[in-house]
Amino acid sequence: EAVQAYNERESLYIALGFAKDFFVKNLESEEGKAIGLSYFKERGLRPETIQKFDLGYALDKWDSLLQAAKQSGHSEEILLKAGLVLQKEGEPERIYDRFRGRVTFTIHNLGGKPIGFGARILTNDKKQPKYINSPETEVYHKSDVLYGIFQAKKSIREKDNCYLVEGYTDVLSLHQAGIENVVASSGTSLTENQIKLIKRFTDNITVLYDGDAAGIKASLRGIDMILEGGLNVKAVVFPNGEDPDSYARKVGPAAFSDYLKNKTQDFIAFQIGLYKEEIAEDPIKRAELVRHVIGSLSKIPDPINRTVFASQSAKLLEIEEAVIQTEVNKILLKGE
Ligand code: UTP
Ligand code: MN
Ligand code: MN
Ligand code: MN
Ligand code: MN
Repeated sequence: EAVQAYNERESLYIALGFAKDFFVKNLESEEGKAIGLSYFKERGLRPETIQKFDLGYALDKWDSLLQAAKQSGHSEEILLKAGLVLQKEGEPERIYDRFRGRVTFTIHNLGGKPIGFGARILTNDKKQPKYINSPETEVYHKSDVLYGIFQAKKSIREKDNCYLVEGYTDVLSLHQAGIENVVASSGTSLTENQIKLIKRFTDNITVLYDGDAAGIKASLRGIDMILEGGLNVKAVVFPNGEDPDSYARKVGPAAFSDYLKNKTQDFIAFQIGLYKEEIAEDPIKRAELVRHVIGSLSKIPDPINRTVFASQSAKLLEIEEAVIQTEVNKILLKGE
């Protein structure tokens, strides 16, 4: 049984590699060129980026991948288990491709093997999901993976910092702007294992989430998770409605790098910045901010780091340091 499980994982990897090659090759077909490649071009993605990230195109047909894969000897069972095809309940004859008429983003594991796909719709049809993603499979555990980690790991180690973005295209645009130490959480909440994965390469994360309410909320949660994981965290806020991809393309690589340099804040300044307008006149909001900062401080596992940041918070919030330390300690005692 152990041998069989091993073979099944291998078969999944091979099927996923086949699908990757298939989607990539589709970009050279008439349909792929007219629809997929022109979409990437419109978004400013260059051929070398398309190649480096194994971007592709899923033909607008019910079973193009299924037929090609079967032709190459992949079984329906493996294609199903790889999340590449779907089967209609109780109708074994109704089996069809998961990804159709969409551009594809290959998700690689740390070693560079394809383990799943994200696929974007090409129209603005709001009735359909913008992205369709591979499901959880035996080789794709979403909570353990970060998009772009294979292409980023060397640079993360060299720069001793990892930029964390929300989306596939944010990763691609940053690479094109010369910033290669970047990974995406792919729109889902950051997990402990994803933080551990980054920690293999650096202790420093800079959160670059979208400049909208959802992005800010995700940043706050992500920051606490990162602090809890024992890493250092900073954050950059983008103008409302911009994400790292749109902003990088709007201002260009040099201005984008300057923006990162000038707008990177530690987590305390980031939280204060979010409340900046409200706290001037509203003491209740000010108290809320203090409580947020204290909550984040209590996540820091290292006592020295915790004390240093508590002291920094006291200065920035204009609150007595002893008060902050006491409140942090209360939370820590409750947790024990
Ligand atoms: P966004 O909605 O910010 O999309 O979701 P985006 O990355 O900026 O995409 P573009 O620029 O419109 O093409 C961020 C990430 O959340 C996941 C994807 O990983 C996406 O990149 N997501 C989003 C989904 O999985 N499904 C969706 O329907 C939407
Ligand atoms: Mn497993
Ligand atoms: Mn978003
Ligand atoms: Mn975007
Ligand atoms: Mn976005």
